[in-house]
Amino acid sequence: MQRSVALFVRHRIDATVADGVFALLALAAGGWPGAAGWPAPDSAGSLLPAGTRADTGGSRTEDGLLCLSVRSAFHLLLSAAELPAGSEIVISAVTHPDMVRIIELHGLRAVPVDIDPGTLAVDEAALDSAVTDLTRALVVTHLFGARSSLDAVARTAHDRGLLLIEDCAQSIQGPDDRGDPRADVSLFSFGLLKTATAMGGAVTWVRRPALAAAMRARHAGWPVQPRRAYAVKVLTCMVALVASHPVLYGLLFGGGCRYDPTALVRSRVPGDEPGFTRWLRRRPCDALARTVARRLAHFPAHRLASRAEAGEAFAAALPPGVFRPGATAARHTHWVFPVVVDDPDRAVDGLRAAGVDATPATSQIAAVEPAPPGATRMLTGLVFVPAYPGLPAARRDLAAAVIAACSSGPAGTTAATATAARTMAATAAERESRGHATTRVDGARSLTGR
Ligand SMILES: Cc1ncc(COP(=O)(O)O)c(C=O)c1O
Repeated sequence: MQRSVALFVRHRIDATVADGVFALLALAAGGWPGAAGWPAPDSAGSLLPAGTRADTGGSRTEDGLLCLSVRSAFHLLLSAAELPAGSEIVISAVTHPDMVRIIELHGLRAVPVDIDPGTLAVDEAALDSAVTDLTRALVVTHLFGARSSLDAVARTAHDRGLLLIEDCAQSIQGPDDRGDPRADVSLFSFGLLKTATAMGGAVTWVRRPALAAAMRARHAGWPVQPRRAYAVKVLTCMVALVASHPVLYGLLFGGGCRYDPTALVRSRVPGDEPGFTRWLRRRPCDALARTVARRLAHFPAHRLASRAEAGEAFAAALPPGVFRPGATAARHTHWVFPVVVDDPDRAVDGLRAAGVDATPATSQIAAVEPAPPGATRMLTGLVFVPAYPGLPAARRDLAAAVIAACSSGPAGTTAATATAARTMAATAAERESRGHATTRVDGARSLTGR
């Protein structure tokens, strides 16, 4: 079969070259230009005056704090909360591994609570058994671009007097999204792979005034990120944007190339504890603050809407037998598009032959050990498939057929899946004749043995 050079990138960066140019100008001019409606952050990195009254029924105030990253904000939050050593934090069983690392850094214990693989909401029965007398906080992770219900956790947090934190790093729903008003803290990431990226930064909404004040006070004493470090991020973003053109990306990473391009854009997190703490304990430079403000003021709402539509269109192209974590989540913007297949490596090979680069594992999520059944069901055989607006319908349908051919259930019976299976067989033969060995990468990664 004749294969085209074009390969569609596994994750589209949500920025334009103009966004990169703005950030470079902000770096060069020490913060210029500004963004309408968003004041410059104060010395503690706050976007809003302390105690800004929010529309939360009049009973709660809300502070906005700009941090270097969600991980940095979470570290700040746990430092300010001063929870007794040995306290337990109940956290969604699938989350970013560094969130657990930060909990442990504070001498606390992360206790996983299972999630429903369909809705991605915290399992109510599992929550009841996860909470003990040692529990001081609940952390809910909204995954893949979906926003799951906080009803059960909000009730439990209220009844047991627990701090309720929601991690919205993957799931901003629009420029005015401040999270659920029932949460004490809502965290939003503007990292390189996130929606409306500012090439870094995190907006943190805090609804406990004493906690917000303690966070501001500590944050003001943290060193500012060197401008050079931000410049490297911006330039990386611009190079990645150019390299994500399907032909160039295919030439660089297609064919037999097995280099993981996400390694080039991923932040390098120190493995040792002092290095990790120093890495977390930094404030955004002024140029980053300005870029976050600009991304919020000119939020790419149309791109978010078309991404959500593209995700729905991909879902509609899949046969009903394919298991898709988050398929029944209420509010979904499809930041990423996960599917569960029988053999992730075979699926990834088949998808690459169809001109779409998929990935069977990501460093951005893992199960919290001991992994409960819902988390295991979700992560075993997981593959992230490109499902963004720039993916042509013909490629999408071919990719859907490849996935169907790699899934158990009623799939694998249509003419399209038979074609996809033939494509995969041809690819496998081609790879074998070139002497490539396939390495098994399990989609279900765990935090133990990190
Ligand atoms: C669920 C989740 N939490 C936290 C983070 C960390 O965000 P940041 O890169 O802003 O620290 C991420 C990043 O991918 C994430 O996906």
